[in-house]
Amino acid sequence: MVDASGASEAEGRGFAVNVPVETRGFFLKGCAHLGYGMKSRLARIFEPSSGRTVMLAFDHGYIMGPTSGLERLDLAIPPLIPHADSLMCTRGALAACVPPEARKPVVLRCGSGATVLKELSDEVLAVDLEDAVRLGAAAVTTMVYVGGVHEKESLHNMSRLINAGNRFGIPALAVTAVGKDMARDARYLGLACRVAAEIGAAFVKTYFCEPGFDEVVAGCPVPVVIAGGKKLPEAEALAMAYRAVDQGAAGVDMGRNIFLSEDPVAMIRAVRAVVHDLEKPEAALELFRTLKNERRAQGARQ
Ligand code: 5RP
Repeated sequence: MVDASGASEAEGRGFAVNVPVETRGFFLKGCAHLGYGMKSRLARIFEPSSGRTVMLAFDHGYIMGPTSGLERLDLAIPPLIPHADSLMCTRGALAACVPPEARKPVVLRCGSGATVLKELSDEVLAVDLEDAVRLGAAAVTTMVYVGGVHEKESLHNMSRLINAGNRFGIPALAVTAVGKDMARDARYLGLACRVAAEIGAAFVKTYFCEPGFDEVVAGCPVPVVIAGGKKLPEAEALAMAYRAVDQGAAGVDMGRNIFLSEDPVAMIRAVRAVVHDLEKPEAALELFRTLKNERRAQGARQ
């Protein structure tokens, strides 16, 4: 038999009428109901096979200026790019040190208005979503200062960024901070993460805390990644990353503990082993030392 297009029955076997179409879920928690654009961007930021990400954060200059380790973005960042799953930076840093050929998803810092010289929570949204689209951003981000002096304004900034991102299918990352008088403990970090998710952030960044980080993650309906925080010895930073992913973190958004390491490339590769392969901290430290020694023998600058 021939159908209206002229194809014969034999040719129609490609329809596989007895094979049901597979209906897949989505690998990131709380993200199954997002649209295609959001999901495809998140699937570039997070590695689908592990469900986690190693984000390289080098946005510090937007409040700190030329801070230690990032004085020369063009020298510090390019060697690390191949080893990161995604990059978190401002549009200025993007232009300064990320070649378009890098093909890495960028989480674009969109807030401004405060520096370390004044009240950090006094931020505004400074980047139009149209510009984020022009730059090819995979996600956008700003701060939420729960309990901070400008809590309401920061939540308003976050909501506006989420609303704008929703129009373009660009997910928003909420970077949570808590007020100066509030401990970085599970109670306050959990509050900040939950609030950010409830107002629509697709993923949330917070600090690791003990005890109770597992409850911070459990109480947040979307993926949580941890900031590295101040520079620690490599052994401690790797142990922190391990404890975070072991307790449910969807990865790290790490800056100083990578770019201030005595060997930043060896360190980001060791962090990857922890985040994606759940390598134990001792083995990851051994990997760091081996890579550092190999690279030193090869005369690698970074
Ligand atoms: C500050 C940030 C930074 O990107 C963040 O702190 C990650 O860097 P580090 O690992 O150095 O803490 O979001 O608001």
